[in-house]
Amino acid sequence: MRLLDLPRYPLAQLPTPLEEAPRLSAALGSFRILVKRDDLTGVALGGNKTRKLEYLLGDALAHGATVILTEGPVQSNHCRQTAAVAARAGLRCVLVLSSAEERPSPQGNLLLDHLFGPEIHLVRTREERARLLEQLAQERAERGERPYVIPTGGSTPVGAAAYVRAALELVQQLVERQVHPTRLFLASSTSGGTHAGLALGTKLLGDPFRIVGVAVEHDAATIRERVVALANETAATLGLAVRLAPADVLVDDRWIGPDYGVPDASTIEAMTLAARTEGLVLDPVYTGKALAGLIGHARAGEIEPGETVIFLHTGGAPALFAQAGELAHFFAAGDTVAS
Ligand SMILES: Cc1ncc(COP(=O)(O)O)c(C=O)c1O
Repeated sequence: MRLLDLPRYPLAQLPTPLEEAPRLSAALGSFRILVKRDDLTGVALGGNKTRKLEYLLGDALAHGATVILTEGPVQSNHCRQTAAVAARAGLRCVLVLSSAEERPSPQGNLLLDHLFGPEIHLVRTREERARLLEQLAQERAERGERPYVIPTGGSTPVGAAAYVRAALELVQQLVERQVHPTRLFLASSTSGGTHAGLALGTKLLGDPFRIVGVAVEHDAATIRERVVALANETAATLGLAVRLAPADVLVDDRWIGPDYGVPDASTIEAMTLAARTEGLVLDPVYTGKALAGLIGHARAGEIEPGETVIFLHTGGAPALFAQAGELAHFFAAGDTVAS
């Protein structure tokens, strides 16, 4: 089905702003940084998932769905946004969340999940999550409901199609402003829909800039394989002849830190630099690591003076509050002046 024919349930405030970041640019060298603010998509504290959910919800409604089921880690931004948009569309919602802790603190995304009122099931592992999701969907169907299952991160070809559209939106902004960027940095995960959609969209437009996916989990080869496969499934779904090869997808896995969701000093430096130069709120799971990647490329001299670079801000700020305890020790006592 062609992009224009895909059912879409309008949710996001589009186009998202493309903002200059002059103080961040000056702190890093003599190149220009533009921030594409997909953290400002507008629903339930925003983020990249809103774009995907426009198409996923459109597809669900076209299939007559009565209940949306999805899954993710306990601090999933995707689950938070899915619960919110299901409420907005008047659909029931079931979330299956995994946490190593028996009683995870009801903070950040989990707190917001409770606010939006879905049925929440908590399990320990990713495998249990997938099993329970399938079982719950089957039970709902047997009861006469019409379940619509959204896999991790909303990264199906229908979800990724939203980022093909986002590539068109971004390139139109660049054309209007006569800006010629050389690279775009974003957080890249094994869910992969954002990177896959953008890679496909920019390939269709003649590769106007290089996309650098900064891995937030797994190694570069694993993410590249997933992104290429999903981009090509998305192309097939949209009836496009173009296909991506592994060489089309660049993933840098040097900024993951200790583990998925766990920041290191480079993540914290990126978060504080963005906050203290541009008032931007990044998160410790995705965008903090993506900006750490951009900073690393700048310091290695890989970004030439005079280049223009785009940073895609994909949202995720609620995770900050869930990690308040762990993050506190990174901030020196000197930051607070007792009086
Ligand atoms: C804030 C944020 N950035 C980036 C990503 C990665 O997007 P994708 O799932 O499309 O790979 C996610 C996914 O959960 C996210 O929540």
